[in-house]
Amino acid sequence: MTAKPPVTDGPRTRLTASERSEALRRRAHDLIPGGAHTYAKGDDQYPEGAPAFIVRGTGCHVWDVDGREFIEYGMGLRSVTLGHAYPPVVEAAAAAMKQGANFTRPSPLELEAAERLLGLIEGADMAKFAKNGSDVTTAAVKLARAHTSRDLVAICRDQPFFSTDDWFIGTTAMPAGIPQSIRAMTLSFRYNDLDSVDTLFRRHRGQIACLVLEPAASQEPAPGFLQGLRDRCDAEGAVLVFDEMITGFRWHRGGAQGLYGVVPDLSAFGKGMANGFSVSALVGRRELMELGGIRPDRERVFLLSTTHGAETHALAAAIATMKIYESEGVVETLHRQGARLRAGIDEAARSRGIASHFLLIGRDCNLVYAAKDADGKPSQAFRTLVLQEALKRGILMPSLVVSYSHGDEEIDRTVDALAEVFGVYRQALDGGIAPFLEGRPVQPVFPPKS
Ligand SMILES: Cc1ncc(COP(=O)(O)O)c(C=O)c1O
Repeated sequence: MTAKPPVTDGPRTRLTASERSEALRRRAHDLIPGGAHTYAKGDDQYPEGAPAFIVRGTGCHVWDVDGREFIEYGMGLRSVTLGHAYPPVVEAAAAAMKQGANFTRPSPLELEAAERLLGLIEGADMAKFAKNGSDVTTAAVKLARAHTSRDLVAICRDQPFFSTDDWFIGTTAMPAGIPQSIRAMTLSFRYNDLDSVDTLFRRHRGQIACLVLEPAASQEPAPGFLQGLRDRCDAEGAVLVFDEMITGFRWHRGGAQGLYGVVPDLSAFGKGMANGFSVSALVGRRELMELGGIRPDRERVFLLSTTHGAETHALAAAIATMKIYESEGVVETLHRQGARLRAGIDEAARSRGIASHFLLIGRDCNLVYAAKDADGKPSQAFRTLVLQEALKRGILMPSLVVSYSHGDEEIDRTVDALAEVFGVYRQALDGGIAPFLEGRPVQPVFPPKS
């Protein structure tokens, strides 16, 4: 056995939110189902005493309602790629807002945003904007069904989320309220497994409208996998849809499709494209996208016609964000700083003897982690311990996703804090976790499927 360095316990005070903060938390649960507007932000995702509400942020720093400061690695569910309150984006949005938020006819910002986005995404001819990622993945499914006159949809089962709409939520462990007839229309295949795709096409010949997947998530595509999907969709007359909600503006400024060189028929962007402002986009081939147009010679598909879809200040924020991506090395920085974080954390985990219990997963620009117990099993209790001890040391880390604002200093402070956290982790592995946990364990958003 290798000798372990002495363990630093770090702060022993409990993680506590103020009584005022707890009162606000209770009030929120009385007025808002779940106490928040995204399950991933919910209280059950965080240890007791975690920040109840965040009141402001700048760069990669946020402050909670009790005035506690944290370096954070969730970044608005990965939507804030540049940093909180990033000045050029805020200024562009404020300038547009002062001119009016929404007009009776289109604003020129709609054209400018489309030109910029299509300039970044090679192989896409047209774009349509909306507010949420779910709107645009659902629109892609609808277009695919209209184009192919087929009902079945096939999604990648190894990836966690595509939409809040029924065609996807019906496949999860929370399908309440979704008719069986709708659930039966969504099939699934495995990532990096072309045989599973072939089986689907064989069993449902001429019935599958589209394949929907993130081009990459925690796993990288095996050589030939994405091209294999492209070839099979072409051969079977199905539509290939990439969900680039997370990969877009993170893997490559042209999306993961720009990195891997496989062009889908349709793709869905959101999250990072407006640095946290609410903008999403469906982009794709003219032949499909035009089905949602108003040219008189063909039947129309009702495609993303929303009251707020072209809100001026959100599009101005998207344009400002895209300009920064065009002129500065944002994606390179996300990869570089993620690699620095990964190297530091891996070394800290090794030095504390927990390298096989705390694992970093995914691409450097989009790190998540798995916490395992003494038997090597994934553990919500150990995840809770990491969240709890990191919060005590000023780090908010539901994931370890960096932004353009995570500088060397913040990354190094995080690594130092985590070295202490890992010391506590080691003690909990050796002596049992119960004395270290200060409250109930956190829960996954979707319960495991029974
Ligand atoms: C890969 C992916 N697709 C789609 C969505 C849905 O996006 P939205 O929450 O903006 O509707 C998400 C949201 O987390 C996502 O991660």
